[in-house]
Amino acid sequence: MTPAPRWIQRVSPSGLSKRITECHSTGSSHYNTSVETAPNTRAFYIGILYPSSMEDPPDHKSAVRREFTKQASDYAESDILTDPEKIDSLIQATGPSSGARVLEIATGPGHVALGFAEECDQVTGIDITEAQLEIAREKSKERGVDNVHFEKGDAEDLPHQDDSFDIVVCRLAFHHFEDPAVVVEEMSRVCRPDGTIAVDDIIASELPPRASYQNEFERLRDPSHVRALPLSEIIALFSQSKIEVTDVFSSTNVQEVEQWLSLAKTPESRADEVRRLIEEDARDDRSGTRPFWQDDTLYFAQNTAIVVGRRLRDSRLGDRQVTDHPRSG
Ligand SMILES: C[S@@+](CC[C@H](N)C(=O)[O-])C[C@H]1O[C@@H](n2cnc3c(N)ncnc32)[C@H](O)[C@@H]1O
Repeated sequence: MTPAPRWIQRVSPSGLSKRITECHSTGSSHYNTSVETAPNTRAFYIGILYPSSMEDPPDHKSAVRREFTKQASDYAESDILTDPEKIDSLIQATGPSSGARVLEIATGPGHVALGFAEECDQVTGIDITEAQLEIAREKSKERGVDNVHFEKGDAEDLPHQDDSFDIVVCRLAFHHFEDPAVVVEEMSRVCRPDGTIAVDDIIASELPPRASYQNEFERLRDPSHVRALPLSEIIALFSQSKIEVTDVFSSTNVQEVEQWLSLAKTPESRADEVRRLIEEDARDDRSGTRPFWQDDTLYFAQNTAIVVGRRLRDSRLGDRQVTDHPRSG
């Protein structure tokens, strides 16, 4: 006797309702269907139909564009992005020379790229959000800077030749990348051998449950946040991409919770949950971001790190077996 077909639901009930909500908000329609896969097995697919006028499917990168278009002008002027000391710390960490060709990945409104343009020969800033690039171009025009240019491009697939920059940097964007390993590989590819690579970003706890607590409230506040990485993971990604870590500088971004929520224009229903999670963190020390109250105002501290490395030439990678770990005892 032939057994009854088994149904496999490929989209979890919560994933399903989320997708349908998103699809209503973008005005697209949805469908579902079933197909035969193997004997006695059927798969249940949820698909979404997009009007041909839509530029992007509702994938992660379109969430990034949506969030950074929505936040564009307020965000460009935010204290943390414009802080000249923070910009200078990153620039000085790379030891720039006046003749350097610099690439800034995910440049946003271009503050870091414009800072480099004061010290270096040629600077390129790339980003996937056009609204951010427009602000960056406007700023460089206002300041009469002519050695920087801004172009559209994806950090996971850089539109540049191998070995074409002396310095490649990325600030406050790694937590938005779906595949940070690919981005580090791309940064390494476009950097010349012996050139400098620096990643400056929020870092999460080395302890996974604490890291995921922070990432959960960060994602609720801004759905384009994927995951702040622990420092050890950024260092490991450098090593996997022929980059030798030369320096690590740590710091914090102290955030006033209400200001930080209003910058991202987080809808009230999600903002309430973010407040609840951070208040619980203040009481029970859940994430390592050390939330605290001052004059009835709630704050927390994002830990950050600038990881700097040198892109090694292949001949420096060596082929020696590892023999320098003598057995103890
Ligand atoms: C928080 S902003 C940081 C802006 C800038 N790096 C700074 O520190 O002033 C993050 C930026 O990353 C950009 N971004 C995110 N994913 C990207 C990708 N895959 N390729 C290029 N840009 C990306 C967003 O569009 C946004 O402008």
